Amino acid sequence: MKVYSGLAGIPVVKSSISYIDGERGILEYRGIPIQELVEHSDFLETAYLLVFGKLPAKEEYTRFVSDVKENQYLDMSVLNFLKELPKTTHPMKVLQSVIPVLSAYDKNTDVLDPQHHYSSLVKMLGQVPVITALWKRISVGENIVEPDSSLSYSENFLYMITGRRPDPVEGRVFDRCLILHAEHTMNASTFTAVVAVSTLADFYSAVSSAVGSLSGRLHGGANEKVYQMLSKIDSPEKIPAFIDRMLQNKKRIMGFGHRVYKTYDPRAKLLKKMLTEISSLKGGSRLIKTAEVFEKEALKRLESKKIYPNIDFYSGVLYSILGIPSRFYTSVFAMARIAGWVAHCKEYVKENKLFRPTQVYDGGHNIHYVPPEKRG
Ligand code: CMC
Repeated sequence: MKVYSGLAGIPVVKSSISYIDGERGILEYRGIPIQELVEHSDFLETAYLLVFGKLPAKEEYTRFVSDVKENQYLDMSVLNFLKELPKTTHPMKVLQSVIPVLSAYDKNTDVLDPQHHYSSLVKMLGQVPVITALWKRISVGENIVEPDSSLSYSENFLYMITGRRPDPVEGRVFDRCLILHAEHTMNASTFTAVVAVSTLADFYSAVSSAVGSLSGRLHGGANEKVYQMLSKIDSPEKIPAFIDRMLQNKKRIMGFGHRVYKTYDPRAKLLKKMLTEISSLKGGSRLIKTAEVFEKEALKRLESKKIYPNIDFYSGVLYSILGIPSRFYTSVFAMARIAGWVAHCKEYVKENKLFRPTQVYDGGHNIHYVPPEKRG
């Protein structure tokens, strides 16, 4: 029996949610190019598109936004739960532990019922950004900022996490980042969600499992690592030697490379463009300069292996301009990816089949128990 290590190139589902052409750098959600969604849509409309398979009619959109916003208020017991956590808890661990608790406030947790798909979606889209923003403030001892329903979804998150009302350009840039992170075919965290839901666990359990999977540095956790890597470099002249040292020591360059894209990740291209736009408004920074030089130098060494910047390379640099602390970068990724995870869970349970792969056993047989006093 052959082992398909990492399941690379093995289809595990049929899906109509998103499409990638990794050779040509194409990404589509429900057939719509990502560039069009970034230009014309907003995150909640895109989330609706992903989950329900079509762009919402005007009244469907209004109801959806209002249902999400109604869910922006946490129950006191969830807030108290947050307050009891050790302040050093990483924001991704906070999400992983709090999301299942939200199911207690959902009357319907029947994974086969479309009502559960809707209620869990609006609850998680409403509450996860609020939990993330509150955790930032609680963990550093700042006053809690209440949601402001007069702000857009994305503006409200920036307001709650920074305590400062963002200008509309910041809100729109952040919203476009959420669109870019909302979905990406059968990656590790989406696969995790689908495996969990295949057992008929509810969507809260599936999403919290996916959050754990996303947190690793080969996946969503890379954006925080990119920031740490770039922040260590105090002058652009040191970049070539820095990269050479990493490669000689067989270290991965964070924010570079992708299992599917063998060209420039289209999301990274859009993020880079947005970074140029926002820095022309807000002023450049040392970090932007470092990132640009780093990209050029890393490409010189990696392009021949078809290793290019991925979505995680520029996202953190952009978030730093918006005032989001680096520990929260992967949680921002998770906030957006809820849309993709729920879309896949909803699609998968329609024709559910329990995931239960097999293995090639290469251990021994008939080995006898040895009492503790006789063990060497
Ligand atoms: N830096 C240096 N070398 C790399 C990198 C990198 N970032 N990525 C791949 N390689 C090399 C790797 O060392 C190997 O070389 P060799 O054949 O000489 O041993 C070759 O490329 C193939 O590597 P692989 O691990 O088999 O390739 P993969 O397709 O499984 O890797 C990846 C995909 C994302 C795990 C990898 O590119 C990586 O570790 N990147 C850094 C972490 C990162 O940025 N992750 C975010 C991914 S995109 C967004 C997301 O999913 O969250």
